[in-house]
Amino acid sequence: MYKEKILNILRLTKTGFRSGEELARKCGISRTMVWKHIKALESEGFGIEAVPSQGYRITSVPDILRLDDIRHGLKTRIMGKELHLSPRIESTNTLAMQMASRGALEGTVVIAESQTGGKGRLGRTWISPPGNLYLSVILRPDIPLHKAPCITLMGAVSVAVAIRTACGVEAGIKWPNDILVAGKKVCGLLTEMSAEQDRIRHIVLGIGVDVNMDPGELPSEVRALATTLKAETGQMVDRAALLRQVLRDLDHWYHVFLKQDAEVLDEWKKLNMTIGNRITVSGAGETLEGLAQGIDLEGRLVVKLGDQSVRHVAAGDVTILKGSGAM
Ligand code: BTN
Repeated sequence: MYKEKILNILRLTKTGFRSGEELARKCGISRTMVWKHIKALESEGFGIEAVPSQGYRITSVPDILRLDDIRHGLKTRIMGKELHLSPRIESTNTLAMQMASRGALEGTVVIAESQTGGKGRLGRTWISPPGNLYLSVILRPDIPLHKAPCITLMGAVSVAVAIRTACGVEAGIKWPNDILVAGKKVCGLLTEMSAEQDRIRHIVLGIGVDVNMDPGELPSEVRALATTLKAETGQMVDRAALLRQVLRDLDHWYHVFLKQDAEVLDEWKKLNMTIGNRITVSGAGETLEGLAQGIDLEGRLVVKLGDQSVRHVAAGDVTILKGSGAM
């Protein structure tokens, strides 16, 4: 508790030093105790300069997620009221699904620094080394089952908006749920659900954002198609700040979705990079080629084929064809 208080005071001091005496007075502890907490912060990776007769100042912060940082100024209604942070687990989605079936609150967020069995869409693996964001959010929406896919669209809108706000880059969405920057993937979303008859028990919205990892760690087959936020911004990204922004935007767009889902679809359309392009979409053993005309109220991609017939596609991988436009 005193360690966090000292850290907060030092972090709020943009320039100059804070003396050991002042820190001791503000915390109501001795200067020796202040020194012990400073040593503990250094062992956690904080760079702290100590100058005799001036005091302490922070020179660098470690790229590790800390619950206090994530909670700092979060101010959400439900997202992240319960936070679980692990250094390394198999999959945040798997743990969140287990927690949800044991009754975890809506808005509970499971975060990991790395995953040993990260899951991607269509049964793929999601490479999950340290340095990125891996989180899963438990939701309990009172909506008809056929609207469940729209939760992924709501998640994609939230993450794209959050990346724009926190990193100042033009993030867009490729149907159904890839977030792209400069035409390359930086984030994927994986939604899992437990339902009975026509009732949703819970949904887990999993989000993986490639933030500070070295792009060389990406599997060679996706290296040309994927990037990281660090590579696109040219600097290390504050992951706690990005995570807070993701939770704030999820909080906002989830409430919009529950009141008026069409508003989320409108925002998705504004951010999307798929509609209006000639595409191929592969899934369920076939590849279709046509014009991506829009999405329907259930989040399915509406594709007009060469023979003018129209298909509503629920799942698949989209490739945007070069030099595309209306057919
Ligand atoms: C995709 O294939 O594009 C979706 C990737 C989703 C990855 C995230 S990382 C956090 C959460 N836990 C998982 O095991 N998967 C999702």
